[in-house]
Amino acid sequence: NRRVTVRDLAAAKERGERWPMLTAYDALTSRVFDEAGIPVLLVGDSAANVVYGYETTLPVTVDELIPLTAAVTRSTKRAMVVADLPFASYQASPQQALETASRFMKEGRAQAVKLEGGRAVAPQVELLVSAGVPVMAHLGLTPQSVNTLGGYRVQGRGDEAAENLLKDAKELERAGAFAVVLECVPADLARRVTEQLAVPTVGIGAGPGTDAQVLVWQDMAGLSPKVAKFVKTYANLHETLRDAASAFAGEVVSGAFPEERHSYSA
Ligand code: KIV
Ligand code: NA
Repeated sequence: NRRVTVRDLAAAKERGERWPMLTAYDALTSRVFDEAGIPVLLVGDSAANVVYGYETTLPVTVDELIPLTAAVTRSTKRAMVVADLPFASYQASPQQALETASRFMKEGRAQAVKLEGGRAVAPQVELLVSAGVPVMAHLGLTPQSVNTLGGYRVQGRGDEAAENLLKDAKELERAGAFAVVLECVPADLARRVTEQLAVPTVGIGAGPGTDAQVLVWQDMAGLSPKVAKFVKTYANLHETLRDAASAFAGEVVSGAFPEERHSYSA
């Protein structure tokens, strides 16, 4: 009953075993995912959207994400907990990246961090890894760059863009990243990257050829109001929760709840 480590994930790739990753942001749901045996939980900066209600991931801060990270690590035993470094908390310099990552490790008790970007952030990855911080990289559709990308769209289409992404992936592996997220890229490109890297790839909207798959849990469980084409929903929590809330409301108004068995005697 120790936590999953970067060595376990490397060994899984050696054995050709695929693995799942989910996002997590709070105590009770991360506990459920730990129980389900999800080996890696990401405290994503998607908390900006699904926890804090922002339109994009850009506004969310380190101070907003650290308490969520701490909640997830306190509530899990087995999963490796990866903390997403938010926009503008690591790009300025490797030193800035280490200062931010160390807060997620010390205050959030994360076992690893994730950051977005290609070869431009390789120096950040190098310093973090040399300081003892495992780094998950993130290529393709990197939502923190939505304004330079010009929207949420498929990345790496066409020969030049594909070669560029492959080069970035190799450079991040060389810098020491233990895994690379590939978001919204053509399936055949994701397969090529997966074949050419020794470290595992984690796909989201990247087809079936990656070593792992990640989804935002509220998308996976049907709580998010609208989801991208690449999402599969495995439950309908939106309907389940709305029906529960309506049933509760109806019984309060009618007086059907609470009953004697929910009440205390003198
Ligand atoms: O923030 C997030 O949820 C992510 C994953 C979807 C990869 O970065
Ligand atoms: Na993210």
